[in-house]
Amino acid sequence: MSERNDLAEAPVAFVTGASSGTGREIAECLARAGYRVALAGRKLDALEETANRIAARGGVSASFPFDVRDEAATAGAIASFLEWSLGRVDVLVNAAAIPGPVQVPIGKLAVSEFDAMIDTNLRGPFLTMTHLLPVMIERRYGRIINIGGNHGMRGRAGRVGYSSSKWGLRGLTRCAALEAGEANVTVNYIAPGPIAVERMKRNWTERARQEGIDDATALRRYTAEMGPALGQVNEPADIASMVLFLAGEGGRNITGQEIVIDGGIVV
Ligand SMILES: NC(=O)c1ccc[n+]([C@@H]2O[C@H](COP(=O)([O-])OP(=O)(O)OC[C@H]3O[C@@H](n4cnc5c(N)ncnc54)[C@H](OP(=O)(O)O)[C@@H]3O)[C@@H](O)[C@H]2O)c1
Repeated sequence: MSERNDLAEAPVAFVTGASSGTGREIAECLARAGYRVALAGRKLDALEETANRIAARGGVSASFPFDVRDEAATAGAIASFLEWSLGRVDVLVNAAAIPGPVQVPIGKLAVSEFDAMIDTNLRGPFLTMTHLLPVMIERRYGRIINIGGNHGMRGRAGRVGYSSSKWGLRGLTRCAALEAGEANVTVNYIAPGPIAVERMKRNWTERARQEGIDDATALRRYTAEMGPALGQVNEPADIASMVLFLAGEGGRNITGQEIVIDGGIVV
């Protein structure tokens, strides 16, 4: 743990995938908005980097390293988290996921690869919700935000595992919304299109290297292939802003919904 739990009245958010990319941005945004933030992911050093960035701006966070595919580890980490937060959890953001291989069709995709995507991207959120939704229901307050993808709103050749996992997450979101609404718990799904995180930037740089073009041209070509009406990919802050909205008063009466943020690809 990187910080003392010394803002006893502040709301508490639990964010998976907080060790990099969009999850890290969401964690930092929630901390800036006054939440105490539990940072979840496998890599403790990367979680601590997020914690340091939060602390540098006066925020409070603590790191809880675990693998979302591991049921016992998830239960143990959430038990430690609830000790830290004195039983309080206001917001759960499930952002941890793996993209899996791209352009690999059924027949070529290893079953183990398919399983890894389902286990991380769908079963992982189910496990965190299994342990945190009852706490929210008991407290009669909660906001759950599952980060899906626009590949969960359409099919995509060569992405069967990823797309299936994100479609499944929509089902999990809707069922939980119906189960928990009576207890004033909302459950929603954000469906981003491409986000300019380090992992994606590395892909664009690699493409630029292979095609002998510069990074900016590679990004323009990629964006043109995706075809967003607005002609641009997401920044992590685009997703974090929606998380803040859904977690706040604006999200009070929104549940079971899928909000697409992709510049107008799925229209
Ligand atoms: N980037 C995009 O273009 C894009 C587009 C649409 C949707 N999304 C969705 O947005 C979310 C964030 O994506 P991103 O690209 O920003 O992420 P990213 O930078 O690739 O980071 C993935 C995060 O997931 C965590 N994670 C992966 N497997 C895990 C496991 N088994 N247990 C615990 N944590 C695990 C990683 O932590 P550790 O490595 O520390 O375990 C890391 O914090 C994901 O749900 C993704 O599907 C992304």
